[in-house]
Amino acid sequence: MSSPHRDVPRLATLAVHAGNAVDAGSGAIRRPLVMANSYALPDDPSELSWSGTGTPLYTRNGGANQGWLEEKLAALDGGDAAVALASGMAAIHGLFFAALRSGDHVVCSDNTYVGTYRLLTELLPAKYGITATLVDSSDPDAVAAAIRPETRLVHVETPANPTTRITDVAAVAELAHAAGALLSVDATFATPVLQRPLALGADVVVHSLTKYVNGHGDAMGGALIGGGAAGTALVDDVRRDAMVNVGGAISPFNAWLIMRGSVTLPLRMRAHCAGAQAVAEFLDRDPRVAYVAYPGLASHPQHALAARTLDGGFGGMLAFAVDGDADTQNRFVAALRVITSAVSLGHDESLVVHVSGDDERARYYPEDFRRYGHLRFSVGLEDPRDLVADLDQALTATVGAC
Ligand SMILES: Cc1ncc(COP(=O)(O)O)c(C=O)c1O
Repeated sequence: MSSPHRDVPRLATLAVHAGNAVDAGSGAIRRPLVMANSYALPDDPSELSWSGTGTPLYTRNGGANQGWLEEKLAALDGGDAAVALASGMAAIHGLFFAALRSGDHVVCSDNTYVGTYRLLTELLPAKYGITATLVDSSDPDAVAAAIRPETRLVHVETPANPTTRITDVAAVAELAHAAGALLSVDATFATPVLQRPLALGADVVVHSLTKYVNGHGDAMGGALIGGGAAGTALVDDVRRDAMVNVGGAISPFNAWLIMRGSVTLPLRMRAHCAGAQAVAEFLDRDPRVAYVAYPGLASHPQHALAARTLDGGFGGMLAFAVDGDADTQNRFVAALRVITSAVSLGHDESLVVHVSGDDERARYYPEDFRRYGHLRFSVGLEDPRDLVADLDQALTATVGAC
């Protein structure tokens, strides 16, 4: 019989303990909030690099709360290094800024958060001559066909915002590495609770900490977690280039809030997954609903892949539409009483956003998204029965009883 002893604690244990320790100054058993711009210099600072990150110096070079949060994020994702930045977009920009040069090429999922799309299709090509090919990354053959000799990075988002499309990280990692490119994965929807992309071969993981990792809708942050030599080197480059030199540092208070919020991440993700599954099944059965996209439904195109590669649930995000026009979707949202109409996701409260079918990126979305538009739904921590009741009454108020 093998020993039950484990060297690496399980995720729930890491979520409580990683990055935390007794505070040497006060004896408090949790890390304090250190609101300071500057740290005491050594007696002889002549050897110090003013752009260095190793010695406490200046919060743009790295602060105490940021460091503790990074320790925790690296542990949760099984990484070797992490850098926490001011927002998810600061992290994604930092990744592209550090990894790419003029003339380089990126292969990226064609379903991503709009900021990623904007960087790769507008800003980086126009300013730096970096080009990108957007592909359906759920199809490894499409990824393989898009890779060119000058491809330096393959970037995928899975599950993707807003369609919940799933990419096979292990398959794409093999393709990227065979071509000499790095693989980065935006795992904001999955969080380390449902998937740890570094263990599947990714070099770098991206999280918008603003979402599930913080979980309470009250602080913005982003992070890159690197694994292996290439991922660790890239995180170091981001720390120097995008944080120290460009200024994307996270505030100490936000790092502290996110550290506190992340303690309950495993518990919250289980509740988000259970709630989303219940809500998705209700919507799927309701004839007033045109379609539902949720990886936990058998009708989802990558349901089998999601079941094989996500651990313990299918996430808290889904998209759907009422059977009707754009005005119907708006009236439905206005009739909701528990679910709030607002952007962002991964908060404690349920959030819904209506995006119309003529959205500029609709050509990359499935047919139903183009025809009806979509309601992106971040299923919160309310009792799922109350969410179902709210959806039902809003459907009745909008299109009648079924
Ligand atoms: C998948 C994903 N990545 C990145 C971001 C950007 O994160 P932030 O808003 O923290 O900049 C978002 C925002 O919605 C997102 O959904």
